[in-house]
Amino acid sequence: MTPDSSMRTVAIVNQKGGCGKTTTTVNLAGCLAADGARVLVVDMDPQAHATLALGVDPERVEQNLYEVLAEATGAARLDEVIVPASQRLHVAPSGIALSALEQKLAAERAEGRTERLARALAGVRDRYDFALIDCPPHVGLLTFAALRAADDVIVPLEASHFALHGVQKLLETIALLGERIAHAPVVHVLPTLYDGRTRFARETLAEIRRCFGERCFDTVIRSCVRLREAARAGVPIVRYAPRSNGALDHGALAVEVAALLAPLDRTASGIRAERCHDAQSAETLRQIVVEYHDADARDVRIAGDFNGWVPDRDVVSETVGDDGRRVWRKVLHLAPGNYEYRYIVDGEWREDPGNPDRVPTPLGPPNSRLVVR
Ligand SMILES: Nc1ncnc2c1ncn2[C@@H]1O[C@H](COP(=O)(O)OP(=O)(O)OP(=O)(O)O)[C@@H](O)[C@H]1O
Ligand SMILES: [Mg+2]
Repeated sequence: MTPDSSMRTVAIVNQKGGCGKTTTTVNLAGCLAADGARVLVVDMDPQAHATLALGVDPERVEQNLYEVLAEATGAARLDEVIVPASQRLHVAPSGIALSALEQKLAAERAEGRTERLARALAGVRDRYDFALIDCPPHVGLLTFAALRAADDVIVPLEASHFALHGVQKLLETIALLGERIAHAPVVHVLPTLYDGRTRFARETLAEIRRCFGERCFDTVIRSCVRLREAARAGVPIVRYAPRSNGALDHGALAVEVAALLAPLDRTASGIRAERCHDAQSAETLRQIVVEYHDADARDVRIAGDFNGWVPDRDVVSETVGDDGRRVWRKVLHLAPGNYEYRYIVDGEWREDPGNPDRVPTPLGPPNSRLVVR
């Protein structure tokens, strides 16, 4: 993940309480930072749970987001209230005063009120790769301000108490807001608190996938008691219990989020990311995202040890940039081992130009090799 001046802002939103918003925000942030990204957590919930879960005592900070958002003139700048939680992970802390923001700004024009957070974030764009905004469990000014600032939205859905009606209402609200302010963040849903041992949870997960299709992350966050402990200890799970299911799942989510949202490297091809991912399989699998960049190719497939050397069709392509440059991407779930593979570009078999690891073959050019640990 290379640092880039275009920060991606992601709001974690659901009006339902206790569905994992704060857990997602803090631990996704922890994993993105562990992977080398510079991350800002923006705690827009007056309960300050994200602030606490990052080891910052909201009672002890001198200024918080209220000072940034409440005063039109003489306000604190966002960078003045940010505190470091670890090297690449910073937090803009919340405090109970934030609950009074709506009342304080009641007389102001709706647009002016909701735009302040977006403006404040614009001032730190070059310092972070990601800003993750934790929202409170209701849809009011604080959530609207977060949606206004967001490029993307993650809606955590509790896999055991999934109420489609409530989620649809939320998606309608986001769409309506989008129309009103001509700003439409991309919405993704994330199944959380999943316990695969119960049939009910498995059925609910299947229903979530049916309802949301492409909008649903592949990653599922399983129930994991270590996540609660990590929050209490004030550190992200990747540092508290790096081998726990909670760390593996948030690591897989970080890979997905980075692949979906990060500015694409437009010159290199190759293997984008590697992380543990075993949410739906008894076997421990790794999630690998392979990417092939080519301006002129019309059809790209991949064949290798992992698919019996039958060229796969589901290499998804996406156009990047106005000049039609394209990237082909495929997500593989593989057990640890060595795999040889080749791309088939417009019918021609080629090694992966972005992967220097090659193995000679007896009859022709070398194959590319993928080592999954
Ligand atoms: N995957 C999980 N496994 C175990 N416990 C979890 C998991 N996700 C969240 N929890 C716990 O469930 C509780 C609620 O989670 P969290 O605070 O993240 O939800 P929230 O949506 O932010 O809640 P609120 O709406 O109050 O802000 C917390 O105690 C948290 O530690
Ligand atoms: Mg919360």
